[in-house]
Amino acid sequence: MAKVSVIGAGNVGASCVEAMLHLNFCSEIVLLDIKEGISEGKAMDMMQAAKQYGTNTKIIGVTNDYSKTANSDVVIITSGIPRKPGMTREELIGVNSNIVSSVSENVLKFSPKAVLMVIANPMDPMTYLTLKKNKLPKNQVVGMGGQLDSSRFTYYLAQALDVPVSDIECMVIGGHGDKTMIPLIRFATYKGIPVTKLLTKEVCDKVVADTMVGGATLTKLLGTSAWYAPGMSAATMAKSIVMNERKMIPCCCYLEGEYGQSDLCIGVPAIVGKNGWEKIVELELNEEEKALFKASADATRSTANVLKEQNII
Ligand code: APR
Repeated sequence: MAKVSVIGAGNVGASCVEAMLHLNFCSEIVLLDIKEGISEGKAMDMMQAAKQYGTNTKIIGVTNDYSKTANSDVVIITSGIPRKPGMTREELIGVNSNIVSSVSENVLKFSPKAVLMVIANPMDPMTYLTLKKNKLPKNQVVGMGGQLDSSRFTYYLAQALDVPVSDIECMVIGGHGDKTMIPLIRFATYKGIPVTKLLTKEVCDKVVADTMVGGATLTKLLGTSAWYAPGMSAATMAKSIVMNERKMIPCCCYLEGEYGQSDLCIGVPAIVGKNGWEKIVELELNEEEKALFKASADATRSTANVLKEQNII
């Protein structure tokens, strides 16, 4: 069984650990935070429920002691500030790029081969930063955004069709931003039946629009960004990596010509297994979808360029 470390013991980090306990695929989980005591407290709280979760996973909470993360198979980076109502994910780039740079450097000292999963926002540029700053092989760094956005897409489709979420298959590609994500409605199915045959164009458009602002809707309600769906989405991706499940998951990968883009980290469907993301799956997009992807890539690249302009990479 595997060792997974989670950096940042806030809402998303702690939820992710809890989700991994439910999925029960780790022998050890290390939860690390910069704030004294928070990781130790949350780890102990969850360990005290381990028997009831039905797991023997050991959770270790530490304050900034990266030596305890040594030899992790996967490290999930949630450390960073979340957005407040009215903010975009892109506005977090200044603070979070410093945090993600120092965290990834510390993690790699003790787990040079670990797959790094980036969640801190703006997630696509933070994935690019992690890859470039640490000069890692491209497959070793993956961003978690598409899995979450697809999960929200599933929810809105299931609601519109009044069917169980388990009967829906769908994907969101492109950037992990309110304006850059692309819920692929043409590819979405209810038990293999295209949803476009079951829902009117107006309803399909509303589902797509609701999905795109899914995170912002929650931020407005909660006063901070969401954590249950992000935590579970990261946990299922980590499971696909450590169990080498090779699931097809939309996630943020470094493109070298795929989808007509290069030198860019952005969401695309990929096979996720023991080496991180292993292979990008190229969908046959129509002209409209291609244009949306190009616009999303342009916007994502211009946010990532801020890192270059500010000499961060
Ligand atoms: N090292 C370790 N932990 C850190 C560091 C650091 N350098 N800087 C901040 N943290 C910790 C904070 O102490 C806090 O406990 O990261 C945690 C972040 O938790 P929250 O504030 O609850 O934020 P959360 O909702 O979990 O979101 C984290 O994920 O979805 C994204 O946009 C979101 O960027 C945000 C990130």
